[in-house]
Amino acid sequence: MTDLINHIVDISVGELVYGGAAMGRLADGRAVFVSFALPGEVVRARITQEKRGHALAELVEVIHPSPERIQPRCRHFGACGGCHYQTLDYPRQLEAKQAILRDQLQRIGSIQSPPVTSTVASPEPWFYRNHVQLHLAPGSQVGYQAPDSHTVIPIQECFLPEKPLNDLWPLLDLEAIPGLERVGLRLGAGDNPMIVLEGHSGEPPELSVDLPVSVVYLDDQGAVVLAGDEALIMEVRGRLFRVSPGAFFQVNSSVAGLMVDYLLAHLPLSPDGVVWDVYCGVGLFSAFLAPRVKHLVGIEISPPACQDFAVNLDEFEQVDLYEGAAEAILPGLPGRPDGVLVDPPRSGLEKPVIDAILNAMPAWIAYVSCDPATLARDLRRFIQVGYRLESVTPFDMFPQTYHIESISLLRR
Ligand SMILES: C[S@@+](CC[C@H](N)C(=O)[O-])C[C@H]1O[C@@H](n2cnc3c(N)ncnc32)[C@H](O)[C@@H]1O
Repeated sequence: MTDLINHIVDISVGELVYGGAAMGRLADGRAVFVSFALPGEVVRARITQEKRGHALAELVEVIHPSPERIQPRCRHFGACGGCHYQTLDYPRQLEAKQAILRDQLQRIGSIQSPPVTSTVASPEPWFYRNHVQLHLAPGSQVGYQAPDSHTVIPIQECFLPEKPLNDLWPLLDLEAIPGLERVGLRLGAGDNPMIVLEGHSGEPPELSVDLPVSVVYLDDQGAVVLAGDEALIMEVRGRLFRVSPGAFFQVNSSVAGLMVDYLLAHLPLSPDGVVWDVYCGVGLFSAFLAPRVKHLVGIEISPPACQDFAVNLDEFEQVDLYEGAAEAILPGLPGRPDGVLVDPPRSGLEKPVIDAILNAMPAWIAYVSCDPATLARDLRRFIQVGYRLESVTPFDMFPQTYHIESISLLRR
């Protein structure tokens, strides 16, 4: 293998692959993944990483552009690591995500003809994020991390946060806060923003807040309120959710609503049924499932999310929550559920979680995933022991980016 790092090569690229790149071939036949290239293009690219079977490259110049290539909206596109598909119009992004998901299920999951439906569009392809995380750039600026690096690219504009968050970040003056690592901006119902200052100092900073916002300092010790409220209120399908600064919530509230609609329309819920909601967070899905079943069990590791869950589902007698790691709790959980909903982090399901679900033999499994590769790996296990994959539906939670959210339905 010759050392090609930093070599500039001209490449004809084929299909888009997961991760925001398109695939071509080097002269020696190895696959090369060129970020920001589009199918059908001839591009000039610089090799950045070389492995035995493939290489990674960054786009230097588009020699023959695809007829589908459009002008990106944002001046930081390509330098900032946040967006990958601004050069494709939105309907084409949705098709690409369907194809990439199908490809991942075939290649990683060895699933012959995966029943992947069309991607459900985000009602807002821009200005959809209720939560962004900004890093500090030199000179009191804020920015996002560059692709594949920890370098912070200062930003002057971003078309992903909901508008009230976009009005907020240019007003922040963060230079004077010692030990600050990241800043989260979250938007609650009624356009109420919260600024989450993240650090490791153990000492909350002293600051004056002259904006109508809540400000919370978050470190390993927990959260300290510096101004306003201690938690956000989020709204999905007319239901309000308490969400603590350290707790997860789906970043695109409208698409979260579409996912809830989808689950309610497709899950075989019955008033005598038992459902486990594993990785339940603050109870988004549980809150809509609980009124339709006899017993719902939530499992969640994050203490603040569990506190929120307890508040958000307080009205339901038939709900139990277990706080801890799913892999520790599930193997000892009594009872046989009719259905199990899982919504794990990117790493997917740990082996003890899959084993415990298979042991419980639910009639159906709904798998909400934000990572096609781990989804493919995990679906394969369920299919191998006799579950039928009925459908995989991508939901475009993250327009303009390569990320793919999906819901898969399996039946025994
Ligand atoms: C993708 S979020 C989904 C949350 C929820 N279903 C929702 O839609 O809001 C994943 C959740 O799993 C939790 N989590 C991560 N690792 C876990 C583990 N090992 N056991 C249980 N919960 C875990 C996280 O704290 C987070 O709340």
